Amino acid sequence: MKILGIETSCDETAAAIVEDGKKIISNVVASSLPLHAETGGVIPETAAREQVRSIIPVIAEATKDTEIDSISAVAVSYGPGLIGSLLVGVETAKSLSLAWQKPLIPINHLVGHFYSAFLQGSTEPAFPILALIVSGGHTELVLAADHGKFHYLGGTRDDAAGEAFDKVARLLDLGYPGGPAIQKAAEKGDRQAIDFPRPLLDSKDYDFSFSGLKTAAKREVEKTKVSTQDFAASFQEAIVDVLMSKSKKAFKEFKATSFLLGGGVAANAQLRNRAKKIFGEKLFVSDPKLSIDNAAMIASAAYFNFKPLPCLSVKADPALLI
Ligand code: KG4
Ligand code: ZN
Repeated sequence: MKILGIETSCDETAAAIVEDGKKIISNVVASSLPLHAETGGVIPETAAREQVRSIIPVIAEATKDTEIDSISAVAVSYGPGLIGSLLVGVETAKSLSLAWQKPLIPINHLVGHFYSAFLQGSTEPAFPILALIVSGGHTELVLAADHGKFHYLGGTRDDAAGEAFDKVARLLDLGYPGGPAIQKAAEKGDRQAIDFPRPLLDSKDYDFSFSGLKTAAKREVEKTKVSTQDFAASFQEAIVDVLMSKSKKAFKEFKATSFLLGGGVAANAQLRNRAKKIFGEKLFVSDPKLSIDNAAMIASAAYFNFKPLPCLSVKADPALLI
């Protein structure tokens, strides 16, 4: 079964066709990222305007080699995200669903990130799955008992991990998005150069907090004598330590069978290496390019959670929870 996925929750405009939840037939992503690089973050109005401009060409490109008749459904990410951006994808998906007379499946963007690890993989993760979804707006630990059965264990109380990367990269003048820039700078750095705090490391819950770490980084930048490389490596290490320590604890407590990493921050090499060390064969994570926002993950999520809704009842929901 082929599903067309559409994703416009932040600065990407993406469309993809995926067969049976796994096989990527096409995967097109247009990003307005260069427009945000100068300001060091996404400007919602600029992102939405770009999405209005590129949504039709992106869908045309994604569907160019596929008979529309062979597409079984349209899936769209309807939240969480920026309202103006979400509206572009949701309203376009509704129009296509009506015009083509195909079922419309609304997908939670965070659930979409979960399914990135099902794409192109030779083996599917077995349930129960402990998932760490880490992106620019979210840091969530979730236990999945089965497809569609997600149980929230904890999440960030303030900034998301990706947001911390982005803000600290700005402090270091490394540009936007911050995650890849910090990763690159950290490659030759000393992880022990600065002993950054590990917020909530020993708390009894599965919550995270990254705003204190950001404040500590700000203080360090003002007084530090270490190189940018050492700074980036030490900061990245603190984030990886906290994320992996809580994941390890939850994996044990909930007797999970697989550990899944999803979201833009899952593209981070140091995080992936550490997860591999801890979880070995039980780790499931997509290629870095499928960890960041894309529409293939939305189409995959729709295949495994095939729950169409009446077209006109589907609405963008910027504050949707997992
Ligand atoms: O999932 P995503 O593409 O968009 C959201 O749903 O937010 O995640 C974007 C976030 C940004 O904060 C970006 O800095 C971070 O993912 N990111 C990374 C890396 N690549 C992207 N963070 C750390 N290391 C990376 N290699
Ligand atoms: Zn995302």
